[in-house]
Amino acid sequence: MTDPTDRTRLIASATRRGRGRRPVAPPVERASTLLNDAPGAMRDESQGPVYGIEDLSAARELRTLLAGLEGAADAWLVPSGLAAVTVPLTALARPGDEVLTTDALYGPSRRFLRRHMGTRGVTTAFHAAAATTDGILAALTDRTRVLLIESPASLTFEMLDVPALAAACRARGVLTVMDNTWGAGLAFRPLAHGVDVSVQAVTKYVAGHSDLLMGSIAVSDPAVGRPIAETLEDLGWRVAPDDAWLALRGLRTLPLRYREQARSARIVADWLLGRPEVATVVYPALPGSPGYELWTRDYDGAASIFGLVMNGGDEAAAHALMSALALFGLGYSWGGFESLVTHETGQLAGRNSPPALAGELLRLHIGLEDPADLIADLERGLAAWGAALS
Ligand SMILES: Cc1ncc(COP(=O)(O)O)c(C=O)c1O
Repeated sequence: MTDPTDRTRLIASATRRGRGRRPVAPPVERASTLLNDAPGAMRDESQGPVYGIEDLSAARELRTLLAGLEGAADAWLVPSGLAAVTVPLTALARPGDEVLTTDALYGPSRRFLRRHMGTRGVTTAFHAAAATTDGILAALTDRTRVLLIESPASLTFEMLDVPALAAACRARGVLTVMDNTWGAGLAFRPLAHGVDVSVQAVTKYVAGHSDLLMGSIAVSDPAVGRPIAETLEDLGWRVAPDDAWLALRGLRTLPLRYREQARSARIVADWLLGRPEVATVVYPALPGSPGYELWTRDYDGAASIFGLVMNGGDEAAAHALMSALALFGLGYSWGGFESLVTHETGQLAGRNSPPALAGELLRLHIGLEDPADLIADLERGLAAWGAALS
């Protein structure tokens, strides 16, 4: 028998676990205190965790499965996707070091670098969102300790040549940390492409149901993992057993949801491209979109989120479009089963070099609804956009 695919392994890890009559899902173990049979057993780690701050059953299984997906030696769970970015940076950068990252970085990660790291002696340098590999490498200095990669980047979805960057950084002793939320640990495996630390917001596609916050951190080199594990231990961060259980349930169906949502996203994106109100759709999985060649070369699937650049317009028209939608929720997240829309033009002002776009920028996340219904909804939205501008 050939090795089972991820899709099969995620199921088989539940149905082929243990022997005897048993539930498919592991129990939710809610515990701070774990009791022992004898004083001598209390510190015996071979009997499992000694205190509830260590991961209990669902979290342990989730870690194991995520590490397997990522091709990692180990993976850790943290209370949010943001924490998955901030913990490795806290662990790996020291006062005097510099972090290099994209100008299109996820806003709260950028805020962390400025406010938290900046006041603790770690500086940040930003490369242009659309920088070439050579341009990024030219921005490395003797002080650069970490290249923080987000590809595709937030809101404008620029793609980077991750394997080339990872190889060049390793040769120069610079560590690479990649926010791979878009690839969901599924369509892209950063560690296999030479990245040192792969992080993602489990909140999004893995959890998949918009009902919890969590992040994961995966490494292949124990020397890189040790300071991360110690930082987590020192900070006292763990995830709640119920959240781990829900995320584990989400993980079982990740490959199917991810693939189906990408299929729908492509249908909706193609339709939008044919509309006169739309200047362009920024979606690396779309032929003609920036980053399409890198996506084709490196990715085995796509997230279902993209930027929608309108032909001109203003905030009032964008709000009219959004208000006319009945199926797209107005909410800040993605990766769940439901479609969402946000208006993002204002967010670009926080960048050093905001891109010059043809018009207002919206972000669409495509869920598991029927794409034909989503298109009918967007048709209503575009009619409201037109009415607001006339
Ligand atoms: C690219 C990216 N990374 C990290 C996060 C943070 O995830 P969380 O909301 O779980 O903190 C987000 C959330 O939107 C995101 O878009």
